[in-house]
Amino acid sequence: MTDVDLADADLHVGDRPHEVFRHLRDNDPLYWNPDGKEPGFWSVTRYEDCVNVQKDPRTFSSNQTNTLGPHRNTGDQGSGKMINTTDPPRHTELRKLVNKCFTPRAIAALEPYLRSVVRDVFADALEQGECDFATVVAALPVAGISALLDVPRQDWDLMLRLTSTAFGSHDSEYQMTSDVRANAAQAHGQLLLYCQGLVEKRRKSPGDDIVSLLARSQDAGVLSEEECLLFFDVLMLGGNETTRHAAVGGLLAFMEHPDQWDRLRKEPELVPNAVGELLRWTSPSRHVLRRAARETELHGKTIHAGQDVVIWHTSANRDERVFDSPEVFDVGRPRSSRSGHVAFGSGPHFCLGAALAELELTVFLDELANSVSGAELLGPPDYLRSPVINGVKHVQVRLHPMG
Ligand code: HEM
Repeated sequence: MTDVDLADADLHVGDRPHEVFRHLRDNDPLYWNPDGKEPGFWSVTRYEDCVNVQKDPRTFSSNQTNTLGPHRNTGDQGSGKMINTTDPPRHTELRKLVNKCFTPRAIAALEPYLRSVVRDVFADALEQGECDFATVVAALPVAGISALLDVPRQDWDLMLRLTSTAFGSHDSEYQMTSDVRANAAQAHGQLLLYCQGLVEKRRKSPGDDIVSLLARSQDAGVLSEEECLLFFDVLMLGGNETTRHAAVGGLLAFMEHPDQWDRLRKEPELVPNAVGELLRWTSPSRHVLRRAARETELHGKTIHAGQDVVIWHTSANRDERVFDSPEVFDVGRPRSSRSGHVAFGSGPHFCLGAALAELELTVFLDELANSVSGAELLGPPDYLRSPVINGVKHVQVRLHPMG
């Protein structure tokens, strides 16, 4: 166990990482992951450390990158330019530009639209009988983020293909080339080009969507052209590549725990709690990464300036120091500020889209509980190979209608 490689995508398939993380939390809470799939890095696995590291951007910087991957050492096009890869004060300026579009109040306006999208896709899936549930629920997040960016429906499939490739580029299904780095770069490049076309259109015919806002910010000199395009990239990626995996992981959790499904259907007021529990349970964003900007100490070890620290949400969300019986999936688990899940991260980079994701998952669970009495697994889930995202690419299920 002392030389486990947490950067190895194969380690993260299914339930395997939980045993490893429990061992690290108990025995080596600041673990030096030796050179392996990637150059060495520190790993933080306890809840409290996870929160504290993310709240301290002066010591732990996001400026180079915020995930493991081949871009770690050379940086990539977005380093130091995007909301997720900048530190204060630039990060604060970028965040202020779009914050008002993501408040719970602004996001609530999308509810009727999202409900109609989910009702339609569930009705189709029920009619078909068998379906790939991962494809079915993909419509929900792409609808949400596309509404905010005013991306037309005919381009949803393209957006999903590009964001899946950009985030899942370790996985052979999404490889355009045999080189992980080139795969991601090609997909990002196409997203940037797509956004360039949208910006030109919005300049001629502005609306109240986020792309129009970004175009105005570029014209006002607040964003460079590159920063404007990269903003679109991160919003489309963040919007698409997490919530759908939480939804699929949620369905699988309910199939494994039918008592929890029965409870949710009998007590629909538990839906907001259940959303929190499925985020804790699935931790769609497995980790975030920070680079030490100065020397610091943790658990008696020295982290040198320039070394990378990976904060594992997968582990923090199962920390028995904070959660009672963390290995139990419990839709009635009480929520409190001390024991809230950290699936959205914490500190200044706390997920910008958290209110959108929560609304999407609330609508998802409400509509699932209203229209589906149960689900049957028709084959093993096809998991995404990634140390970054906890996802299921495909899962064939049969949904049973009510009554
Ligand atoms: C279940 C769904 C989601 C999960 C688990 C999730 C998770 C996260 C996490 C862990 C971070 C922190 C990154 C860091 O600290 O480096 C983050 C940031 C971010 N998320 Fe999400 N996210 C979700 C949904 C969304 C959605 C729907 C959007 C839509 C726009 C979004 C956009 C962003 C953006 C732009 C950031 C960067 C914020 C910043 O650096 O200030 N996310 N997300």
